[in-house]
Amino acid sequence: MVTVTSSSDAEHKMLSEAGYADSAIKYYLEKKYMGHIENADQVSEKIGSCGDIMKVYLKVNKNNIIEDVRYEITGCAGAISAAMAAVELVKGKTIDQALKINDGDVFKVLENIPEKKHHCIQLAVKTMHLGLEDFKSGKTD
Ligand code: FES
Repeated sequence: MVTVTSSSDAEHKMLSEAGYADSAIKYYLEKKYMGHIENADQVSEKIGSCGDIMKVYLKVNKNNIIEDVRYEITGCAGAISAAMAAVELVKGKTIDQALKINDGDVFKVLENIPEKKHHCIQLAVKTMHLGLEDFKSGKTD
């Protein structure tokens, strides 16, 4: 007998066995903030030491509150889950408040990812910080 498993069930199992917590897997599978924002106020891009690329789009209102964030990512499950968690940490915050989020904050939201994937959290946070700093300095590309 052949047992058919849905692809997200199969991905969940693989990631779980690799050391990803359920929270991290949920962020990865849902990919809630993947994509781009039309008329973004800021678009910034960073390349990680692994060669993966992240682009962050920010929508900021006139009170300096971050209304929306999206990421485009060519990268691994760790990078995607970390970026999605980072968005939830900064949405509704001011630019300066958002600049205070760090790798540890994102790790706490994810609950756990494999140790060799911790640099992927760094890439997500560094890309977010780059976007926020670029926005502050008025740099548009
Ligand atoms: Fe490149 Fe995860 S391996 S971001």
